Amino acid sequence: MLIKSKRGWEIPEHLATPEGIFLSRRRLLGAGAGLIGASLLPGVAQAAETDPSASLYPAKRNERYTLDRPMTPEKDASSVNNYYEFGTNYDVGRAAAKLKVRPWTVTIDGMVEQPRQVGIDDLLKAMTLEERLYRHRCVEAWSMAVPWTGFPMKAFVDYARPLSGAKYVRMETFLDRDVAPGQSGRFYPWPYVEGLTMAEATNELAFLVTGVYGKPAQNQFGAPLRLATPWKYGFKSIKAIVKFTFTDQRPKSFWEVVQGAEYGFWANVNPQVSHPRWSQATEKDIATGERRPTLLYNGYGEFVAGLYGDPALKGEKLFM
Ligand code: MTE
Repeated sequence: MLIKSKRGWEIPEHLATPEGIFLSRRRLLGAGAGLIGASLLPGVAQAAETDPSASLYPAKRNERYTLDRPMTPEKDASSVNNYYEFGTNYDVGRAAAKLKVRPWTVTIDGMVEQPRQVGIDDLLKAMTLEERLYRHRCVEAWSMAVPWTGFPMKAFVDYARPLSGAKYVRMETFLDRDVAPGQSGRFYPWPYVEGLTMAEATNELAFLVTGVYGKPAQNQFGAPLRLATPWKYGFKSIKAIVKFTFTDQRPKSFWEVVQGAEYGFWANVNPQVSHPRWSQATEKDIATGERRPTLLYNGYGEFVAGLYGDPALKGEKLFM
């Protein structure tokens, strides 16, 4: 470990939350991220070369999704990542490289016409890849802007053929204690789980990511399949997905189980709703250190605000 930093909020392990990583990331970026990024890059390049889907990249950019800020340099976004399966610090690139992302089977089950399993490369053949520039706002008030490659989650939902009674999609990460040392931590409710309503999952912004920076995603980004929901805090963006379960029960997500008073199911970005322990009014760019005002729904209100107008949602904590 290059820099060992203490958790900023000094709470016991059993109340540990993702923001320790984020504090570390900010400290790191102030203290020489370029050096650390460079030390990870050789392994990263190798992984991309041996990926059987490499010829699918770069995919055509979908110009509908534009940024209001410069794209984060790859060396910054890829040299510090949050992936608790591989450690509770930011420098998970080397550890995550041990995860074998081929063969990789995705299970589709629950309330679907026909439960099935599909290999990632067959899934890629069934989908059309595109690149999207998305903002990424972490719950701990840092942000970046990333060129993801992948396919709309709506296309995946159509492929999965859920029954009309399905209300949610529950997503689950792999479980392999031999390769992911973090999964031996007894307190955490492994495997990592996240969930979306069907309306969220089929919103045009919900994106299943297979690549980044014009090539297959490096493991630390959540290869071979992760979610990007840019109007929500980053912890909703589950990495290394192995299972999608369609259900009429609201799933309990990983961080909701760990610390439900601070991390909820909805987790929509809102600068006016503070985290119980800090303000969400502004955010810090991980590459430049520049601070800017945080935007409601991370600036994606025109796409998603309509999802939350239902009077039935009154009383729900939509912004934590
Ligand atoms: N998915 C899994 N399986 N394990 C994790 O620890 N961390 C989440 C999310 N998805 C996490 C995960 C958190 S807290 C964030 S902020 C984002 O991944 C970080 O994504 P990045 O490393 O690509 O910036």
